[in-house]
Amino acid sequence: MTFTRPEISRRAAAAPRSGIGEIVAYARGRDNLMPLWIGEGDLPTPTFISDAAGDALRAGETFYTWTQGIPELRQALVRYYQRHYATSLSADNMYVTGSGMQAIVLALQAVASAGDEVIYLTPAWPNVVNAMTVSEVNPVGVELTFDDGRWSLDIDRLAAAITPRTKALFVNTPSNPTGWTATREDLAALVQLARQHGLWIIADEIYGLYYYPGPRAPSFFDVMDAEDRIIFANSFSKNWCMTGWRVGWLVAPADIGQTLTNLIQYSTSGVAQFMQKGAIAALDHGDDFIRSNIERARISRDILCDALVATNRVETRKPDGALYAFLKIDGVTDSRDEAFRIVDATGVGLAPGTAFGAGGASFMRGCFLRDPKQVEDAAERLTRYIRNR
Ligand SMILES: Cc1ncc(COP(=O)(O)O)c(C=O)c1O
Repeated sequence: MTFTRPEISRRAAAAPRSGIGEIVAYARGRDNLMPLWIGEGDLPTPTFISDAAGDALRAGETFYTWTQGIPELRQALVRYYQRHYATSLSADNMYVTGSGMQAIVLALQAVASAGDEVIYLTPAWPNVVNAMTVSEVNPVGVELTFDDGRWSLDIDRLAAAITPRTKALFVNTPSNPTGWTATREDLAALVQLARQHGLWIIADEIYGLYYYPGPRAPSFFDVMDAEDRIIFANSFSKNWCMTGWRVGWLVAPADIGQTLTNLIQYSTSGVAQFMQKGAIAALDHGDDFIRSNIERARISRDILCDALVATNRVETRKPDGALYAFLKIDGVTDSRDEAFRIVDATGVGLAPGTAFGAGGASFMRGCFLRDPKQVEDAAERLTRYIRNR
């Protein structure tokens, strides 16, 4: 008797292996490894957050709960936006998700169908683009301009990419991996384009507070009107060192609230209540922690970028936002090969720019959210390697 082997679905086949995951899998667990390849720091979640979650867990908060997030957490999100963005949102605008990644997936599901196009800026964090292909949405990359170590948006280039099939603009600012941070003028121009063409904006402002020239990066909240069709995807991961928790949120127009609740229902059916209690503690008592973590990132950013620029063989500038140095090392054209060589020679794990799509192939990404002494050590190893390359 012979068996026929069923094929995996077209969507599953469209999910490629992560180009960052590949180098991590190659060198994970080595002695003397300095892991700057992933977007997370070296600090665990602060105890005031873990304690709040642990207390709730021990108190038996272990049942199914509100699909869209518990009301207390949604109110805490309203207060967070009041404090940092001077907004007057309501709990009806807030939807709690199982990570920033899931927030992005649900936002895409809410606005784009198979065959539709979503425009994004590249180089880009690859998960977003791959989430589109898995949904059979066509990602349309518009390259940022790289000039004299700085990245900028050419709004005319973006406008030229809009077609009748375009449903949304996906904008990550400050950007992973480039650190490009939209100016207020960029944001106003994007909103204008979206209004003109009837498009959604999905705003990924997850690094909005990781902004070095001021208290926070310019935000779509600064330029939008109440009737603009903007969905914000965000996460607890970076602000409060909660990457392993997998909790995020969406801010969206209230009239699509039921749709988002339904989409949460048919994916995770909601986030564990005890984790949501930890998330409330993060929002309500975490501002000082965020400030000190950002100051630490600024010190480490300066150490890494200053050391590398001093080799005269690396083109980069200190990024205004996010957690990453995106480095163009003289002579590197295939950063995938180079990432393997660098980790073998120095023990420093960098993410290859090839993983971030068009415009990224000759760059390497290093995350500097870590103890300045460790970053100094990584910078020494890298500069030695680059000088002898
Ligand atoms: C630009 C951007 N958006 C969203 C996320 C999602 O974060 P998480 O899924 O950990 O909440 C990340 C994580 O690295 C990111 O860099």
